[in-house]
Amino acid sequence: MKQKDRIIITIDGPAGVGKSTVARMLARRLDAVFLDTGAMYRAVTLAAVEHGIDPADTSKAQTLFDLCRFEFRSENETTKVFIDGQDKTAAIRDPKITEQIKYIASAPSLRGKLVQMQQDFAAGCRRIVTEGRDQGTVAFPDANVKFFITADAEERARRRHRDLTVAGKDISLEAVFAQQQARDASDENRVVGPLKPAEDAVMIDATIPTAEQIVDKMETIVRKRLRAGKN
Ligand code: DC
Repeated sequence: MKQKDRIIITIDGPAGVGKSTVARMLARRLDAVFLDTGAMYRAVTLAAVEHGIDPADTSKAQTLFDLCRFEFRSENETTKVFIDGQDKTAAIRDPKITEQIKYIASAPSLRGKLVQMQQDFAAGCRRIVTEGRDQGTVAFPDANVKFFITADAEERARRRHRDLTVAGKDISLEAVFAQQQARDASDENRVVGPLKPAEDAVMIDATIPTAEQIVDKMETIVRKRLRAGKN
């Protein structure tokens, strides 16, 4: 499909801000495919761990990356992950994997390969809502609309803690907050593809409004922008 016929909406922002929730909802409203690019960084980290490779050894992780077959499919508003034909959609969410993603996420050549994968994935979609850290800045600088979502750090940690507690995980709010601060620092300070808003991103503060209210606002902006683009 030609670039001009495609509609690309990017949503970037820090961990725990509710990006996936609003990205999924927005994709549903726009009849677009949803892509969770964090799933890709998680998949490469999991593949390394499962092959006995320390993810900090990014040169070995890169060799492994070239040998594995990674597939990402959009099914039921979820980015399903397959490594060498095996469904790893649940396994990539293990907190032990989350803690180690920073090494893969900071390796320039691996980031380059994953950005290429994201662009290849989008090339097959008529409309896509893609979320991550660098979607508007690096992966899709020509996106139709770019959003950057922020929220108060303590509120993000409280929400994440509540979700983990509901999921049966025994972890203190303080520990969740500390992990979140470490992940923010690593996301913001890496040299390649750091977490930062694109210059032309629409900034959205998600501290107070509900997901529904945020998506209402995003949908209005997207539809207005697309209408303006047609004239
Ligand atoms: O969105 P998430 O929490 O599932 O992302 C997991 C990690 O992957 C996150 O800590 C940073 C990294 N990531 C990235 O570097 N670039 C992206 N586009 C998406 C995620």
